[in-house]
Amino acid sequence: MAIHHIVLYKDDPETLRKVSEPVDASDPSAARLVRDLKDTLGDHPNGIGLAAPQIGVHQRIVLVCLGAGPPERAPRPPMALVNPRIIEAGDERKDHDGCLSFPGLYGMTVRPHHLVVEGYDEEGEPKEWTYEGFDAVVAHHEVDHLEGVLFIDRVESPLDLYMM
Ligand code: NI
Repeated sequence: MAIHHIVLYKDDPETLRKVSEPVDASDPSAARLVRDLKDTLGDHPNGIGLAAPQIGVHQRIVLVCLGAGPPERAPRPPMALVNPRIIEAGDERKDHDGCLSFPGLYGMTVRPHHLVVEGYDEEGEPKEWTYEGFDAVVAHHEVDHLEGVLFIDRVESPLDLYMM
């Protein structure tokens, strides 16, 4: 088990703003990073996604939990996306957003609700994933992290942010 400290925006915005580097999906270090991310996310029961830069590692690996939005609202175990690249995005709408790097802060962001992503899974196999609805929001949020883009950048107005 390797539970890492999650970088908070208020403590270290630079780490969260830095662009991440592609990884060798078949290298054991990628599998190790996936494991560390899963251990860390597992320590945050309300988390539904995590990106490597949030534990201070600037490599292009993220986790997403599907099924967190309606109709299910019961997030499934995290799946890893290695070197994810968005190849199709559409159906932009406002939806709820939040981030483990911003505890207590939430917002209504504008993101695609249809998303096609290509990359590698945690076994190093090339994959293409299609996400609809809130699953697309979660995947888009996590891929954003790899570019140093944060959910506060995706609100139309500061009035769309709220504390809870
Ligand atoms: Ni986040």
